[in-house]
Amino acid sequence: MSTAIGASLNRVDGRFKVRGESRYSAEVPVPNLTHAVVVNAKIASGRIVAIDTSEAERADGVLAVLTHRDLGRVATVPKLLPSLAGLAASGQTFFPMQDETIHYAGQPVAIVVADTIERADHAGTLIRFEYATTPATTLLDQARDQAYVPERIFGGLLPGHASRGDVAKALADADVCVDATYRFAPNHHNPIEPSASTAVWEDVDRLTVYDSTQGPNSVQFTLAELLGLSPISIRVVSHAVGGSFGSKAMVWHHPALAALAARHVGRPVRLVLTREQMFTSCGHREEQEQQITLAARSDGRITALRHHKLSLTSPFDDWAEPSLQSPSVAYTSPNYEGIYHLVRGNTITPTFTRAPGEATGMFALECAMDELAERIGIDPLELRLRNYSATDPESGKPWSSSGLTECYQRAAELFGWHDRPPPRSRREGQWLIGTGMASALYPVTQPVNPQRARARLYNDGTAVVEAGVSEFGTGVFTAMTQVAADGLGIPVERVRFVGGSSDLPNVTAAVGSAGTSAVGSAVHLATTQLRDELIRRAVADDHSPLRGADPAAVQVRDGKMVLRDRPDVGETYADLMHRTFAPDVEVLGTWNPPPQDAGYGVHTFGAQMAEVAVDADLGVVRVRRMVGVFAPGRVLNRKTAHSQLMGGMLWGLGQALLEATRMDPRLGRWANASLGDYLVPVNADAPDVVVDTIEVHDEVVNPLGMKGVGEIGVVGVAAAIANAVYDATGRRQYELPITLEKLL
Ligand code: MOS
Repeated sequence: MSTAIGASLNRVDGRFKVRGESRYSAEVPVPNLTHAVVVNAKIASGRIVAIDTSEAERADGVLAVLTHRDLGRVATVPKLLPSLAGLAASGQTFFPMQDETIHYAGQPVAIVVADTIERADHAGTLIRFEYATTPATTLLDQARDQAYVPERIFGGLLPGHASRGDVAKALADADVCVDATYRFAPNHHNPIEPSASTAVWEDVDRLTVYDSTQGPNSVQFTLAELLGLSPISIRVVSHAVGGSFGSKAMVWHHPALAALAARHVGRPVRLVLTREQMFTSCGHREEQEQQITLAARSDGRITALRHHKLSLTSPFDDWAEPSLQSPSVAYTSPNYEGIYHLVRGNTITPTFTRAPGEATGMFALECAMDELAERIGIDPLELRLRNYSATDPESGKPWSSSGLTECYQRAAELFGWHDRPPPRSRREGQWLIGTGMASALYPVTQPVNPQRARARLYNDGTAVVEAGVSEFGTGVFTAMTQVAADGLGIPVERVRFVGGSSDLPNVTAAVGSAGTSAVGSAVHLATTQLRDELIRRAVADDHSPLRGADPAAVQVRDGKMVLRDRPDVGETYADLMHRTFAPDVEVLGTWNPPPQDAGYGVHTFGAQMAEVAVDADLGVVRVRRMVGVFAPGRVLNRKTAHSQLMGGMLWGLGQALLEATRMDPRLGRWANASLGDYLVPVNADAPDVVVDTIEVHDEVVNPLGMKGVGEIGVVGVAAAIANAVYDATGRRQYELPITLEKLL
């Protein structure tokens, strides 16, 4: 019996957020607090030859000026392991301020601690650095000849190349080929709340860090390795997180720098990254290009897909966002080749950024599909249907669930796809009108470690449910309240979900659109097991009206355990607990994620459609409406799920038209590291957005049957927009973002 799951429950933290009462990591009151400011390298490559800190040290209010000479050495820098494991997860395998070498502009070179943030900031400007610079590589074009194919990417999780069949032969035999190369500007995450850490040592080996993170446990384990401490010495707390989009998925340097500075001054230290520092301190989507080669028969059936990616990584790590994964399973194709090519440059290691890989990879594939449809002379939607794969084209296994064709159909109805006029036939004054579509795919990411949650029922019939997940805007605390209410059979008002601390049961960092399903599965198990424990106690209790009943014949409604077929017979949890002197009952639920190689292909699917208007003289693109239909499995909360999907579609609009971080290669620095110059969609850019979901039943992925809604909303949007721009103007777009000069 399920009543809470699926409802559009308002966010349980909504009131606190809108009233300014949510407590972010830089707002936790801490006595005796000091403030740290990081000073960053201004050169992109070279080394420090001299530092003069004397003036900074003499400045008012300064407690310490730390450089590589006096910060101390970190014990171990953990591997770059995606934070899905709930283990240590460094954003990169390089830790700064350990020697004089400079690998990228923005690398931390000093920390100033003072009694106020303003005084720390001022003192930071008084440090004199002398550098010896060496030539830097900050653009792909500077070093494409040095590209290599990595053995593995993505923290070792994915191979650097994969193939099946014979692509060369299929290309030679093809009726039609499409070959195109797509370029992508780097992107940054830009959450509203910049990363921040407040470090408090309570004893020499007892550290609390209030940190803005997607994974408190990941921060705990990473700090343990860096500081050479046991996890028992470290508590990481994240009460509220003001957005992230992947920038807080891995653990970057600031929590450890705050902890080291706090140990040095013997007082709590607060370290808040500036907006500009957010561009050099927590990864980004790398500059990249992708070449797609499609071979097809004259009826549109794809016979081969070749997908090559070239991207810029850091000097330390073979990072590439996994752009090839979803495209490789999007359509049936007997022949496939996917290769990542990397170039090392003077940059921090890139990281997960809003549908990491899928947002770029599916742009490339879906734009190429649009070209193929045109070449063959069929409708773009019909081309997708002809190439629909009912099985995972890679493994040949059936999908655990799909729903893709239903998504196409529903989107087409909502959009009026089949009534679209011929290309380049619509004009309204200066505006050329066009429509486009794309498929959306996102993998179902399974955590690698067991997921745990604790449920405690009190003798008044209320429950506290706990897990270490943090709430960074997804609505996970609200959805967990609903899962727990249904698991226990009590109303949502009687459930309190508590998360955001590494002291709570370990769950994966909320990444890969898997946070809610991973924690939800553990919460479901904990609460249903707790319910079953209470039922067991009731049927075994001489004084219970349920005495001797078959536990399977008992269900719980509104906190009352009753016989399924005799709802008048039973008693409440509260009555049983009072009578049996049980102040509370507690259960730890553990969910073991299914092995990755179970008998199914597992992916999430959707369809995107967009209508644009392009100013014929000025090249301005306005998106007039978007329709996105997705099949994400079970939807826990209709309102928060639809909001996430809609938010994702607006990210897609940003990817298509606005978002670009521009590198100044003379300095090796980002030229637009501010929210004034890094453009993101605002309300004035937002069109009419229609979001809908097809509910597919999936018993394979997890006990709740949910596949996640966090990121699939962004996938395919940029391609739908680019294809609409082509439909309107006859000009193919091979580079994102589609800025107006590309249409002049
Ligand atoms: Mo999400 S970009 O996988 O944190």
